[in-house]
Formats: sequence, C-alpha cells, structure tokens
Amino acid sequence: MTKTASVKPLRRVTYMDDASVKRGLDGVITDTSSISKVMVEKNALLYYGYPVQNLAENCSFEEVAYLLLNGELPDTHELKDFKEKEREQRPISPRLSSLIELFDPKAHPMDTLRTAVSFLATEDSELLTNNPDSNYQKAIRLLAQIPTIIASFYRHSKGQKAIPPKNDLNMGENFFHMCFEKVPSPEVIKAFDVSLVLYAEHTFNASTFTARVIISSLSDVYSAVSGAIGSLRGPLHGGANEAVMQTMLEIGDPSKAQGWLQQALQEKRKIMGFGHRVYRNGDSRVPTMKKYMLKLAEETGETRWPEIYETLSKTMLAANGIYPNLDFPTGPAYYMMGFEIPLFTPIFVMSRITGWMAHIMEQLDNNRLIRPLSKYVGPEERLVKPIEER
Ligand code: COA
Repeated sequence: MTKTASVKPLRRVTYMDDASVKRGLDGVITDTSSISKVMVEKNALLYYGYPVQNLAENCSFEEVAYLLLNGELPDTHELKDFKEKEREQRPISPRLSSLIELFDPKAHPMDTLRTAVSFLATEDSELLTNNPDSNYQKAIRLLAQIPTIIASFYRHSKGQKAIPPKNDLNMGENFFHMCFEKVPSPEVIKAFDVSLVLYAEHTFNASTFTARVIISSLSDVYSAVSGAIGSLRGPLHGGANEAVMQTMLEIGDPSKAQGWLQQALQEKRKIMGFGHRVYRNGDSRVPTMKKYMLKLAEETGETRWPEIYETLSKTMLAANGIYPNLDFPTGPAYYMMGFEIPLFTPIFVMSRITGWMAHIMEQLDNNRLIRPLSKYVGPEERLVKPIEER
C-alpha cells in the first residue's frame, strides 16, 4: 500500500447510547430456522432436534453433514451414496492447483482458502442456478474440495508437493493423509471427527449470518461462502481457536498461568476462548471436546496444556464468571494432533461449510432481502458551500 503525505482527520461522531438500537444485533430474532437450536437454560445445542453431544459420540462427521444438508440422519444406503459422491469430488482442478502454487507460502491459509473458494465459482457452469438441487451439489463439492485446498496449500507452504486425496479414507483420515502422508491412530481420528461434529453448526452466528445476508440478494453460493470465511477468520469468532493456542504457548509453563491471566484481566484484555454472546453459563459443546482433548493429552503424554486449561478456566470463572467456549479445548486439541496453528481456523471451515450451506439453502427457500436500518447520528441537514469557503 502507498502512503499519502498528509491526511485530513476523519470526522468521527461518538456513539450515542440509545436503548432502541440493538448493537451487534444482540438479542434480535431476524428469521425462523429449523436447522439448530441453542437452549441456554438447558445448556444444550440441537441439530434438527439431536443434541450435539449425542451426535458427536454416536455419529461420524459425514452422517452429521448429511443431517445438516438433508434434515434427517441417513440410512445405510443414503450414507453410502453420500460418501461416494463426496469422495468422487475430492480432487481439485489442475488450474486451481496451479493457483495454489502461486500463493506466497507465508500467506495465512484462511486468505488462500477464501481466494480458492472464490475461484471455484469460475469453474461452476451452474454458478447462478440457485435451485435446491444445484445448490445441494455445490454443497457436496465444497465439502469435498475445501479439505483438498487446505492441505494443498499447507504442503505448498512447506515447499512440498501436494498429496492427492484417497477415496478409501473417511474425511478426517483423508485430511491427515493429504497433510502428513500418514493416518494417525483411531483415537486421534475420533477426536478430530468429534471436533468437526461440534463445529458444524451454531444458529445465526456471525459467519452464518454473513452467508445468509449475501445469498439474500440472490447472489451465488461461492460469494456467500467466501464472505463467511472472511467473517470466521476474525479472533472474536473462529480465529479464537488459533489465538487460544498462541496464549497457551505464550504462558508456556502451567505455574505462570494464574499470574498471566490476572495481569491480562488487569490490563482489560479479552481472553481468547472465553465468553459467548448466547451462552451465559457455559458452552454446551465444551464438555465433549474437553474430554477428547484430555484423551489426546494422555495419548501424547502432554501435561502442560491440560494444566494451563484448568488454571485459566478456574481463575476466569472466579474472577468474572465467564466460561470457556468451544475454541478453548479445540486449540490445544489440534495442536496435540500435530497441526500448526494457522491450520486451526481452516479446519473449522471444513466443518462449518455444512452449517453455512444448510442456512444458504434455507434462506433461499423463503428469501427476503436482509436489509436492516441504522439510527442516524451524523450532522444535521446542510447545503454544500463553495470549495474556497469550506
Ligand atoms: N475476556 C475478558 N472479558 C470478557 C470476555 C473475554 N473473553 N468475554 C466477555 N468479557 C467481558 C467483557 O469485557 C464485558 O465486560 P464489561 O461489561 O465489564 O465491559 C462483558 O464480559 C460482556 O462482554 P461483551 O464483549 O459485551 O460480550 P459479547 O456478547 O459482545 O461478546 C464474545 C462475545 C465472544 C465476542 C466475547 O466473549 C469475546 O470477545 N470472547 C473472546 C473471543 C472468543 O473466544 N471468541 C469465540 C466465540 S465462540
């Protein structure tokens, strides 16, 4: 970016407190949805009626992806068919592979993923066909190709050749294979799969709402998903899972965790992986993910992250009553699985693409352009003066 010599200060109007304005759409219900339900009072999250913990323990990510895209869990035949379709579409085009090789290896994988998803639009002859069948096919394509894009860029960032997907592996196994050329133990795969199930859907969160806003203008699926990726990247949303592990590495030693947190709170810093707009008494997904994070710690013999986890959670709760959210256990879990930190939010995308696509299709089923209002607090009406008098 070029720098300008001198810039006139922008006129800023201080925010005015007004009870009629719902900043951040806090507490505002903007539409109906049958995809998922947060029950704050019971500390529960349901996908089409199924508690997310129940799904995580009993279903594969592929079954949950099918549920979110179809509204019902698959039977044996439907699951087989769904898996075949997903596996067939895993390879990306030679053009997209070449594009990935053009990216700066030091770029953040969320930026390269966003650009690659936008590129997929240029290869889709049904781009502007927004009917349910066509969008369902696009959902399967995105579900299948996003992991290939992430892994191809990961390999490129290491100066290594991309590893083609294998269609005799499930989604989690194949992702490890494409990144590391090996598949870890079934315990690690299960923990990874659980994280994908827990991340898949969460009502009108920022990125999902972004996708709904974009598709509500009758734009296309790829634009909506690219926008959602941009929203998820922020540290107040999906980017928090990366920030959590950076915090844990910064603390380093469990004996320093309490002092670090007290100091950070004194400095009025936001502690990543804590707090939630909707949940006030804890995130319903945390106990399940924490259980699998602890299993990974046991398997790898790692004690630092679980100890820092416990100290930060207890100290935070005692200091201000704020509980961890799902990003708090997933950060160290992904780290113990062997992923580098910049891959954490892209992995979230691999999963949340299912929720985004379910919402995009639901929005289109009964579309109304999303167009809220703002309360004007700028200058009173005035007329333009000649330039020499301004
Ligand atoms: N660390 C420290 N204080 C926090 C906090 C956190 N992670 N989350 C909330 N708070 C405090 C705020 O400072 C505020 O205190 P105040 O009333 O004294 O000013 C109060 O709790 C309410 O927080 P607010 O920011 O208004 O809540 P919100 O609903 O707008 O924000 C989040 C929700 C998720 C954006 C917020 O909790 C946050 O920034 N968390 C860290 C990022 C994160 O983990 N994101 C992933 C979400 S799943």
